[in-house]
Amino acid sequence: MHRRISSSRISSALLCLFLNLLLWSCSGDGSPGHSGPAKWVLANVHAADYPTAEALQSLATAVEADPTLGSRYRIDLQLGGVLGNEKDVLEKVQFGAVQLYAGSVAPLAEFSEAIGVLTQPYLFRDAKHYWSVLDGPIGEELLASIAPNGFVGLAWYDAGARSFYNRQRPVESLDDLAGLKIRVQRSEMMRRTVEALGANPVALGFNEVYTSLHTGNIDGAENNLPSYFSERHFEVARFYSLDGHTRVPDLLLVGKQTWESLDPEAQNALRNLARLSSQTQRERWSAFETRVRNELEAAGVEINAIEDLAAFRQAVASADLTSPQHRPWVERIRQVP
Ligand code: GCU
Repeated sequence: MHRRISSSRISSALLCLFLNLLLWSCSGDGSPGHSGPAKWVLANVHAADYPTAEALQSLATAVEADPTLGSRYRIDLQLGGVLGNEKDVLEKVQFGAVQLYAGSVAPLAEFSEAIGVLTQPYLFRDAKHYWSVLDGPIGEELLASIAPNGFVGLAWYDAGARSFYNRQRPVESLDDLAGLKIRVQRSEMMRRTVEALGANPVALGFNEVYTSLHTGNIDGAENNLPSYFSERHFEVARFYSLDGHTRVPDLLLVGKQTWESLDPEAQNALRNLARLSSQTQRERWSAFETRVRNELEAAGVEINAIEDLAAFRQAVASADLTSPQHRPWVERIRQVP
């Protein structure tokens, strides 16, 4: 289902499309008669030394060296969220103004319902379960499920477990979370999850979080340790509490129009390189996660485990966050060993 889009969004998207076509015509489209390879803009919110950004950089290098793709296409990696927040970027992908998106599944779920099942709190037992699901048939079906919305899913990236962090105190129980203003992604499921846990959700773009924490506009946020570290949120919110309420993966997707403009050989080559980049990303992720935990502790950040998560699980279970469409997916996911 395509969501309703405001006219200002449409005009900005059309402007982007126009600029992109202009760039495209300058850089060639990979077909005979044009000079040079066509440019694929790939957007991501992270800094260049973040594991996902490093894997995307290797993907760009691999595309350039690839015998099928190299002479026809180039990846133009746009990091640090310079192309806007993830929901806006996804709209640009639908319009064809951006070709590739590497980012969270949470805002994608606003366009494509089925994949949103991955944003359900306490869905996965642990990291092993998460990867068994994503690397198995359910993962394949979910990557394919976004096609009617103008996207082709290529590969999953690790985004770890998300937990709460805030400026005030360690969260040991739901009482400590009560009433805190917590930044959430532009995701209905995340908004409802935070509400079910007794805090007040505030939807903001990723790049707005540091300043909002700094000014006290929000009390806290929730994310994985690598993001908390890389964005330096720990400087302004020193309590990180390991409640692991979600494991929402990141993914790499390409716009359907770009995908359909490729011949089968180029599609295969791109899909294979995307999968290789997922392996690179996962290796770097696990090394980075260990490193940042040590660095955060050395910097005096208070990281606490939560003894008993039963009340957290109970609170989200009582809020009945599972839509009828998600129910069969949740059941299948829970059965994966
Ligand atoms: C993670 C994820 C990003 C996302 C961010 C967020 O860092 O990798 O893609 O934008 O969470 O909370 O917005």
